[in-house]
Amino acid sequence: MLRFSCLCLVIWALQFCSSQVKEDVDVLVLLPRNNSYMFSIARVTPAIEYARQQLARGPLAGLSFSVRYVTSECGVDALYALADLAPHERPSLILGPVCEYAAASVIRLATHWQIPVISAGALASGFSDKSSEYALLTRTAPSYIKMAGTFATMSKEFGWKSVHLIYLDDKEERNCYFTIEGVHALLDDHHDISVSMMDSREPLAYVDEIIKSISDHEELLYACNKFAKQHRVTCALMTLCLQNDPVKSDTADMIIMCTHTDAVREIMRMAHRQRLTTSNRLFFNIELFNSSSYGDGSWRRGDKYDNEAKAAYASLNTVTLLRSTKPEFETFSQEMRKKIGVDGCEGCGNINMFIEGFHDALLLYALALNETIHSGYSKKNGTEITRRMWNRTFEGIAGQVSIDANGDRNGDFSVISMTNLETGMHETVMNYFGTNGSFQILPGFNSERFTLRGAPRLSNQENTDQSCKLPVKASCI
Ligand SMILES: *[C@@H]1O[C@H](CO)[C@@H](O)[C@H](O)[C@H]1NC(C)=O
Ligand SMILES: *[C@@H]1O[C@H](CO)[C@@H](O)[C@H](O)[C@H]1NC(C)=O
Ligand SMILES: *[C@@H]1O[C@H](CO)[C@@H](O)[C@H](O)[C@H]1NC(C)=O
Ligand SMILES: *[C@@H]1O[C@H](CO)[C@@H](O)[C@H](O)[C@H]1NC(C)=O
Ligand SMILES: *[C@@H]1O[C@H](CO)[C@@H](O)[C@H](O)[C@H]1NC(C)=O
Ligand SMILES: *[C@@H]1O[C@H](CO)[C@@H](O)[C@H](O)[C@H]1NC(C)=O
Repeated sequence: MLRFSCLCLVIWALQFCSSQVKEDVDVLVLLPRNNSYMFSIARVTPAIEYARQQLARGPLAGLSFSVRYVTSECGVDALYALADLAPHERPSLILGPVCEYAAASVIRLATHWQIPVISAGALASGFSDKSSEYALLTRTAPSYIKMAGTFATMSKEFGWKSVHLIYLDDKEERNCYFTIEGVHALLDDHHDISVSMMDSREPLAYVDEIIKSISDHEELLYACNKFAKQHRVTCALMTLCLQNDPVKSDTADMIIMCTHTDAVREIMRMAHRQRLTTSNRLFFNIELFNSSSYGDGSWRRGDKYDNEAKAAYASLNTVTLLRSTKPEFETFSQEMRKKIGVDGCEGCGNINMFIEGFHDALLLYALALNETIHSGYSKKNGTEITRRMWNRTFEGIAGQVSIDANGDRNGDFSVISMTNLETGMHETVMNYFGTNGSFQILPGFNSERFTLRGAPRLSNQENTDQSCKLPVKASCI
């Protein structure tokens, strides 16, 4: 009996060994220590460890990962940490950095050394060009360009033409700058675009100017529209006239903001006061990573402006990441909350896109490495491993992860709008799936809301009786 089971064991082991790849993998993680970052080492470590343990229990158990965590803030530390390694200390895989400026230099050096880099950050559009210096970068979180697909698809669907982009610039990490850059890059071909910057040192100081640029154009369009009708000037001619006008650049069907929540509230309040939150204009706010405050209305501050803000927010839509969950995700979340608590990062319990992304990064690498070795290449062949991580779909911790043929994750996003004007409650009204570019319409969705109406549009032939000022630029005709 004993002999029999031993034999079984040997046969089982042989079978197991023959298909199982054995390899030691040295991973270097480059992330900040400071827990004010949503992707700090303390938050991400448990997720990477979780992935490592899951892999050790599965069919890829032969891959043994040893992970080095090196703290680096968002500046140049990450590059120095990598450059200081002796050649024999160079890792097989780099996870991170997230911050754009830190990531850029690390990815360049890693690409030069043939080391794959996987990040749940480096979201700027510049990293999409994988033809040379970022060739070995794979992104496991959807980039800003992917997010911008939500706007491009909506705009096409609803026929929007022009957009005013508003962003906050801190001149350091520049998250909003890169976010808006992504929108700009994607809408550039088919839209008139104007841009306003708010300096992060005193963002509220810019509100008046922004509101003015939105409302000025309103008047001009009214005037031109009326003039065109009275004088039987064709719309085409009128449009030509407007194109020569610098104010033209301020026209906007869509106003898309990425800025501090207080600035969003102020802009919305002022726009509402000046009756700019009407049906001929759409306000969007991009809040990708932390939309927790949008559920019951981020308009609320407990000050005397709450009611006004609530009314104004009826016209605000928020674009955020779609968070999908599956049963396994619950286990993961619970585990993360325990671990993150223990590691002394109080209040860091929420799982965010970065934590998920780094977890999935290790799985993706393991899948690609297994195939690479089976194909007869070594773990040192970063190009081959990277190639195998691209253009594939796999099961991540929160659901299916689809990496496009350029090595960038396809993203799913939600549009959140106010659905109860009394209580000021917001809910998700539609979801956008980046993989196939389609929308899922949810019960709270109201197409009226996204269909532009109202007078001051050149293409709109329907007459308006509102009195208007004489055309500001009539002389140009
Ligand atoms: C962490 O970052 C925050 C915000 O950038 C900053 O105020 C704080 O001083 C930093 N803490 C440390 C220990 O560097
Ligand atoms: C997310 O937003 C909520 C509400 O505004 C805030 O309390 C929380 O600290 C934020 N979390 C992070 C990680 O920034
Ligand atoms: C490892 O690679 C081989 C060869 O491509 C494949 O047959 C096997 O299914 C892979 N294992 C896993 C767990 O993906
Ligand atoms: C790496 O893999 C590629 C195929 O993707 C192959 O052409 C190349 O020769 C390999 N490099 C090394 C050093 O093995
Ligand atoms: C991506 O994979 C599909 C099959 O899954 C294949 O048909 C397609 O050619 C691949 N695209 C690229 C660019 O490799
Ligand atoms: C697009 O993808 C989503 C999620 O993968 C799926 O639920 C939806 O049915 C797809 N839509 C179309 C039109 O293929």
